[in-house]
Amino acid sequence: MADRPDAPLHLSVLSQESIELLRPRPGAVIVDGTLGLGGHAALILERIRPGGRLLGIDRDEAALEAARSRLAGADPPPVLRQGNFADMAAIAADAGLERVDGVLLDLGVSSPQLDDPGRGFSIRSEGPLDMRMDRRLPLAAGDVVNELPERELARLVRHLGEERWADRIARFVVQRRPLRTTRELAAAVEAAIPRAAWPRDIHPATRTFQAIRMHVNDELGSLERGLRGAMDVLSSGGRLVVISFHSLEDGAVKRFLRMESRDCICPPQQPVCTCGHRASLRVLTRKPVRPSEAEVAANPRSRSARLRAAERL
Ligand SMILES: C[S@@+](CC[C@H](N)C(=O)[O-])C[C@H]1O[C@@H](n2cnc3c(N)ncnc32)[C@H](O)[C@@H]1O
Repeated sequence: MADRPDAPLHLSVLSQESIELLRPRPGAVIVDGTLGLGGHAALILERIRPGGRLLGIDRDEAALEAARSRLAGADPPPVLRQGNFADMAAIAADAGLERVDGVLLDLGVSSPQLDDPGRGFSIRSEGPLDMRMDRRLPLAAGDVVNELPERELARLVRHLGEERWADRIARFVVQRRPLRTTRELAAAVEAAIPRAAWPRDIHPATRTFQAIRMHVNDELGSLERGLRGAMDVLSSGGRLVVISFHSLEDGAVKRFLRMESRDCICPPQQPVCTCGHRASLRVLTRKPVRPSEAEVAANPRSRSARLRAAERL
C-alpha cells in the first residue's frame, strides 16, 4: 500500500501518538470518522489484520475518492462511506457494525481541500465562496457572506473566529456586497483591520475564513453529535481519540470527556447527588497531547493540534 507519487499530499498529524492511544489490535473494529486522505486509516489497517474491520467516513466525496485509491488493495479492505461522523451510529449500523473498538476523529480540513482554489477554502488564491466539505449541503460561504444580517455576521466571526475586529469586518463585508470570490472576501477583511493590527504569523483573514467555514459545515454541532455517537457505538474498553485544531473544538472535547468520566455532575454546592449520572469514560490524557517540535517543523499545519483520548467503561 505504498503511497502513489501522484497522490494529493496531506501529512497526518500526531499519527504515532494517536495510533498508540487508539490501540488498534488484530481483529479490532475501528471507525475513522475523518478519513481524509487515509493516512491514519492506512496505519490502522496495518494493525487490525487479520480479521479486523475499518469503517472510514468523510463528508467530502473528493477525499473519499483519494482515500479509496490510496487504500486500494489494503487487507482487510476498508468500508468507506460518505457522510457526517455526527451520524456515526447510523452509518456503522448500515455497514453492519453494531459495536466498535475504537473511534478516531481528526477534525478540520485536509491540505488538499485547503489548497484547491475551486473549493473556496483558500485565502490566497482566487476561488468561489464555497467552503462546503460536502457539496450536497445547501448553504455555501457565499450565502453566509452575502445574506446574513451584519450583527449576526459579526457575532459569528467573533465567536467562531475569536476575532476582535469582528464588528468592523462585518461592516466592511456588508458595504461591499455582493462578494463573489475568496479574494474579494479576503480584501474586505484586509481593509477592515488596521494594518498595524494585522497578525504577524497568519493572514489577517484567517480567523474570518475559519469562522465562516465552521459555520457553513456546522463543525461544532457535528462534533457534539459525533462525540455522543462514539459513545453509542464504542464497546467497553473501546477507545476514543480526537485531534482538534481550534480552541473551541478542544474545549468541547475536554468538557465532554470530563463530564462523561464523572459519576456525579450535580452543581458543587449541592450537598446530595440527585443527577444519577454515571461515568462512562476513563480519560487517558490528563493534558492534551501536542505535536513535537520536529513534527511542527516538518508540518507547520500541526502547530495548533491537540489530542485527547478516553476509554469507554
Ligand atoms: C484533517 S483531515 C483528516 C486527515 C486524515 N486523518 C489523514 O490522515 O489523511 C479532516 C477530514 O475530515 C473530514 N471531515 C471534517 N468534518 C467531518 C465530519 N463532521 N464528518 C465527516 N468528515 C468530516 C474533512 O472532509 C477532511 O477530509
